[in-house]
This record gives sequence, structure tokens and C-alpha cells, in this order.
Amino acid sequence: MSKIVRTGVSFPEELLRAFDKVIEELGIESRSQAIQEAIRHFISLHSWRIAEEDVAGAVLVHYSHEEHGLEEGLTDVQHEFIDLVPSALHLHLSKSDCLLIIAVRGKASRVKDLLKSLRRVGRVKQLTHLIMPTY
Ligand code: NI
Repeated sequence: MSKIVRTGVSFPEELLRAFDKVIEELGIESRSQAIQEAIRHFISLHSWRIAEEDVAGAVLVHYSHEEHGLEEGLTDVQHEFIDLVPSALHLHLSKSDCLLIIAVRGKASRVKDLLKSLRRVGRVKQLTHLIMPTY
């Protein structure tokens, strides 16, 4: 077992309250245990960025197709990254909103470039991703 280190962290009160609510719902015994789990999740969510390795996953873009030029821009970027993007799924969420699920497979650095390019297209409502190493 590895050595345990104690540290102090500051939280906005509402954030900690919301965290405790989830901990209770999940039946996790202590806040420390939950924070350790959250940190592991954070590392697995972001560690692919610091390695030059093969990854695969999905980029999720929530946007309004009423936003001028946005949809065309998002499509243009996918075509620019044709080596990385084998396909995408378009879900119509409401009269105005769409969710684009862009499948990606390639080098981590290339995925980072894709994310930057998608952000530059315009004002999307949410842009998130689930990327995992494939080695
Ligand atoms: Ni749509």
C-alpha cells in the first residue's frame, strides 16, 4: 500500500454540498474516498493529452443550428480532419438544438488540434469529449 499524504483543499460551500449529496447517493463511506475516486477519474479523463499515443473516442458538440454558419463550420472542420474522423452522428434535440457526436481515432495531438478547431468555429452550447488510449 502506498503512503498516504494529507492535504488541505478549499471548496465553494455549494460545491461541497453537491458533492456530499452525490457521495451519499452512491453510498461511498468517506469524503476522502470519494475525492480519491474523483481525482482518478480526472486523471483518466485528461491524461491522454500528455502522451503522444493512439487514442479513440467521441467528441460531443451541443449547438443551435440557428446560429449562423455554425453547422457548416462544424462540418468543414470534420472534413479537414478526415484522417481522424471516421464518422459522426447527428441527433436533433429540439426545434433549434442539435447534438453532434463525432467519432475520433488517431494520435492524441491530432485530437487536441481537432478540439481547438471545433472551438474556433463559433459559439457552441457545450463541447466535451470522451477519449481513451488504445494501446
Ligand atoms: Ni439537428
